[in-house]
Amino acid sequence: MSESHSLPKVLIDEAKLKARIVELGETISQDYMGSEIVAVCVLNGSFIFFSDILREIKLPIHCEFLSVSSYGDKKVSSGEVKITLDINEPLENKHVILFEDIIDSGLTLSYLQNNLKARRPASLRTCSLLMKPESLKMPVTVEYVGFKIGPEFVVGYGMDLAGKYRGLPYVGYLEQ
Ligand code: IMP
Ligand code: MG
Repeated sequence: MSESHSLPKVLIDEAKLKARIVELGETISQDYMGSEIVAVCVLNGSFIFFSDILREIKLPIHCEFLSVSSYGDKKVSSGEVKITLDINEPLENKHVILFEDIIDSGLTLSYLQNNLKARRPASLRTCSLLMKPESLKMPVTVEYVGFKIGPEFVVGYGMDLAGKYRGLPYVGYLEQ
């Protein structure tokens, strides 16, 4: 328990996360009023964001989970995206929202958007808690963004570095 001195520094605290997630939930609820949505959680990093925002969306929601790997234990994407766990439901004619923790290079999202579009949903939008606009390596469309941040590597609130820090209640960064 002597790790407290090395805890990540706070970038976005719990109160700011909560307030922004309430706003995003309200916007999505209004945009999709009268529809049912399929909410797709991109594991592992999005699981806390997903469970919090779901409770702010006042719509009938069908939840699905998929898992991708591209980073391994590193801070930089390997550039190779693989679906390691796929969703079970057909998406044809459904209103689908993809929930991501963070968009960095945009590689993962671009791959996932193409993959899901091929399943012919009625609509496909993306909601990401965080986005690093300076790190993008390709243009991606993200309809709902929680916070734009700088290129630093962040952890906490579901996000990890080599499996650590996912349980932190805030988004933080590690000092070199
Ligand atoms: P991208 O393919 O480079 O956009 O990265 C996408 C995925 O990498 C995100 O969904 C995260 O799971 C992970 N990732 C990217 N940047 C960070 C970070 O700063 N901290 C933790 N995970 C990250
Ligand atoms: Mg992710």
